[in-house]
Amino acid sequence: MVPLNILTILVVVFMISILWTNLRGAPWLPTPMSKVYKMLAMADVGPNDMVYDLGCGDGRTIIAAARRYGARAVGIEIDPLRYLWCQLLITILRLRGRVQIIFGDIFAQDLGDADVVTCYLLPKTNKKLEEKFGQELRPSTRVISNYFNFPGLQLLREDEEAGIYLYHPVPNHTKTKKGSSL
Ligand SMILES: C[S@@+](CC[C@H](N)C(=O)[O-])C[C@H]1O[C@@H](n2cnc3c(N)ncnc32)[C@H](O)[C@@H]1O
Repeated sequence: MVPLNILTILVVVFMISILWTNLRGAPWLPTPMSKVYKMLAMADVGPNDMVYDLGCGDGRTIIAAARRYGARAVGIEIDPLRYLWCQLLITILRLRGRVQIIFGDIFAQDLGDADVVTCYLLPKTNKKLEEKFGQELRPSTRVISNYFNFPGLQLLREDEEAGIYLYHPVPNHTKTKKGSSL
């Protein structure tokens, strides 16, 4: 009886987590590792880059960016369990010097020092991010998206078969942070 109750609680927590993250940006669905490497290679990530993963899940993209390409990386994650998991992983892998995990909402973090931004979110979230990218990212920043595209950004390359899209942001300096024109 007790194990069943624990199982029920775990299932309910899991369902709430899916609904909550879905509302905030996207539910957790990990990018296959082969695709993570493809995305980082397509974005030409190197040791001088600062890579941000927006909604970093279990931390696979930022960890790969640091370990395989020698980059510095920041993951932003709103789900407390996955945030704690990432903290544990980067500690065990001794990556604290190069990888940082931020617990919070991607829309509340400044992305100004990013050289590369990786995303695996939803179309509605990408749409909202386009304006933020235009305000905060340098024009040279590479934005790489898994599966869903960014119709308002400047497309540099796409691998249609893999579903990977590479962009530069489109600056929108004529808008204030709240989106009203100056
Ligand atoms: C589809 S998963 C992608 C995970 C990881 N980037 C990958 O490619 O494996 C989306 C992740 O974004 C997180 N997320 C959704 N909305 C968010 C928000 N507003 N701020 C921070 N993280 C968010 C979810 O919790 C989930 O872990």
